[in-house]
Amino acid sequence: MMENMTTGGMLEIGGVSSDKLAAACGTPLFVYDEAELERRVQDYKSCFRSELFKTEVIYASKAFVCKAMLDKLKQYGFGLDVVSGGELHLANQSDFPMEQVYFHGNNKTEDELAMALSLGCGTIVVDGIMECRRLVAMANRMEKEVGVLIRINPGIEAHTHKYIVTGDLDSKFGVTFREEEIILELIGLLRESKYTKLNGFHVHIGSQIFDLRAYDALIERMMKFIKKLKSKHMIEVRQLDFGGGFGVRYTAEDEPSSIRKVCKSIIEKCEAEIRNHELQLEKIMIEPGRSIVAEAGYTIYRVGFLKDTPNKSYLFIDGGMADNIRVALYDARYECDLANKMDREKSKKYTVAGKCCESGDILIEGAMLPQAEPGDLLVVYGTGAYGYSMASNYNRLNKPAVAFVKDGKARIVIRRESYADQMRLETNEEVNL
Ligand SMILES: Cc1ncc(COP(=O)(O)O)c(C=O)c1O
Repeated sequence: MMENMTTGGMLEIGGVSSDKLAAACGTPLFVYDEAELERRVQDYKSCFRSELFKTEVIYASKAFVCKAMLDKLKQYGFGLDVVSGGELHLANQSDFPMEQVYFHGNNKTEDELAMALSLGCGTIVVDGIMECRRLVAMANRMEKEVGVLIRINPGIEAHTHKYIVTGDLDSKFGVTFREEEIILELIGLLRESKYTKLNGFHVHIGSQIFDLRAYDALIERMMKFIKKLKSKHMIEVRQLDFGGGFGVRYTAEDEPSSIRKVCKSIIEKCEAEIRNHELQLEKIMIEPGRSIVAEAGYTIYRVGFLKDTPNKSYLFIDGGMADNIRVALYDARYECDLANKMDREKSKKYTVAGKCCESGDILIEGAMLPQAEPGDLLVVYGTGAYGYSMASNYNRLNKPAVAFVKDGKARIVIRRESYADQMRLETNEEVNL
């Protein structure tokens, strides 16, 4: 966790005090420390490099995306992973270079594929045979050229501290690396069209991965696999994309490797394997999402009521599962502080609960905090990934605003939703059947 400055017991983010942010922008509020974001983007950019092959860092939009974020990534020459027409649309509206966009997803619709082709999306990551047939037919019909990666399920599953090498044939994503016939059929289909160009393979093995040996195992397996394709079938694979999933620090128990270490480890392993198998790979890609945005993000809430039960002391906040579903969804853990009482003793254990009508709307269980009062500000750390991007209007709550802060200045990059915004799609139109 980053060390934040405090002045007179008040937490500062990017040189701005949290009470000023809350007063000026309202709560709940997502706040991104822009300097920290830039440091992470810069670290990936400068460390994911090799003398042996080209490299590309592709940001996974799903972690958090908005125009301001894309403007930043553009400056650093990042690629962009999108998974829907909505993310494609945003990239296009933000003038993101379309040739650097990679379109993923297991069930892209015909409309989405047509949109990607007509916008000039550089790469489609094909997930299976049915999609491949559709893409080839559409590219031929529309006379649009596009690069293609085939998503492979490499039989390596990684999650937090463990990774397992499996023969899992049942993943929702991709084609299992053992299904050689299907892979050959996919390659054949793509080669038949002058519009679709097979560039290589994509893999993604999970999220919040701390053990870098999982990537070593993955790299070994994929290099062996492409060596086999070359020697057995004369198929030359030019690009490999190893996905994202690099772990971050949500709580003190998490000990992620630095971005530098992650990059060094992947690059060195790729170089060794390429030399070992005498391969001619042109480009290696990775797709980090959370490791760029999670720790740069904070959520500031206003404390409302407090309630003691026989076994718990509840502290209620003005947001909850609508702006952070990760806790209810997969038991995610976070740390928090009272942003306006950073110098007080943490003397009481609280259950931090949201305002949604669900008993499961608990953000943090057993948080040690100073004695809280209504009106205090609660800051939750590390909420920059899959927080805003997974936010909903559950209970018709307005989605929070998002602010970027740097050098003592703040700017709103996504404004707070209003009740009027929520009403804009309400209608009563007859349907012409
Ligand atoms: C294909 C793919 N790439 C990249 C990512 C980014 O993962 P993370 O945000 O954990 O780095 C994901 C996350 O689900 C993914 O599915």
